Amino acid sequence: MSVAKKEYKRVTVKSLIEMKQNGEKISMLTSYDYSMAKIVDAANVDVILVGDSASNVIAGHETTLPITLDQMIYHASSVVRAAKRALVVVDIPFGSYQSDSKEALRSAIRIMKESGGHAVKVEGGEEIQESVKRILQAGIPVMGHLGLTPQSIYKFGTYTVRAKEEAEAKKLKEDAKMLEELGCFGIVLEKIPAKLAKEVAESVSIPIIGIGAGNGVDGQVLVVHDLLGMTHEFNPRFLRRYMNLYEEMSSAISQYVDDVKSKDFPNEDEQY
Ligand code: KIV
Repeated sequence: MSVAKKEYKRVTVKSLIEMKQNGEKISMLTSYDYSMAKIVDAANVDVILVGDSASNVIAGHETTLPITLDQMIYHASSVVRAAKRALVVVDIPFGSYQSDSKEALRSAIRIMKESGGHAVKVEGGEEIQESVKRILQAGIPVMGHLGLTPQSIYKFGTYTVRAKEEAEAKKLKEDAKMLEELGCFGIVLEKIPAKLAKEVAESVSIPIIGIGAGNGVDGQVLVVHDLLGMTHEFNPRFLRRYMNLYEEMSSAISQYVDDVKSKDFPNEDEQY
C-alpha cells in the first residue's frame, strides 16, 4: 500500500510522530562526519543518528564503550553542519548519563550547546528513568533505545537477539510504555523478535525505529558504513547491503598505487 508522502523542509520530532500517524515509514541512518552526512541528508533520510557506533566504525574499538562525550560532540558538530533537512539525533556515550540524573542533564546540555544537535538518544529503560525525566524537563528531546543495547554488551556477553524469553520481553514492553509516558519522541528497538517489535509499535503512539526488529515497526535504522558495504566483516542477518564499497574502494586505491608506481599518474593534463 503506498502512502502519500508529505514534504518536510526540516524534519522535527513532531514530523516523526506525524509520519507514524500517517503510516509513512521513517528512514534513519548514521553519519559521523560532514561529507557522509551531506550525502545522507541530500538523499532525504529523515533522521541522521550520530551513533556511538562511531567508536567501532570510525575509531576501530571493539565496543561502543570507549568513545567520550568530547568525541561525540566533535562528530555531531560535523554532521550538524551538513544536515539541512534531517533531524540530527546524538547518542549520549557510555559513562555520561548512568551515574546520576544531574550528570545526564549536563551531558545532554553539552551535546545540544556545543554540537547544535537536535535531540539525544540514551540506552535503557526503568533504570535510567530519572535521567530521561530530567533531560526532558530541560526541553531536550530524548529518544530511547531498548533490546540489544550495545553499551551493556559486557552484561549480555554476546550480540545475539534479545527478549526471546518472556520475562525480558515483558520488561521491554513496560520500558517502552514508560519512555512514551515520560515524553520520549521515539524509541530504537535493536535485534529483538519481529513479532515483539510489532506489538510494541502498535502499543505506543511514538515512532518505533527498528534495527534487526522486522518490518512491523514505524521506521528503520542502519549504520551507513554497513549499508554501503564498507564494513565487509560484519554480516548480521538483518543487514541489507546496497553496495560493496569495500571492494570498489580497494580496487580504486590499488589502481592509484599502480598508476603512481608506473608513472602514469599524473599525466600532462593533470599538471600545471
Ligand atoms: O550507535 C548506533 O549506531 C546505534 C544504532 C545501531 C541504532 O545506536
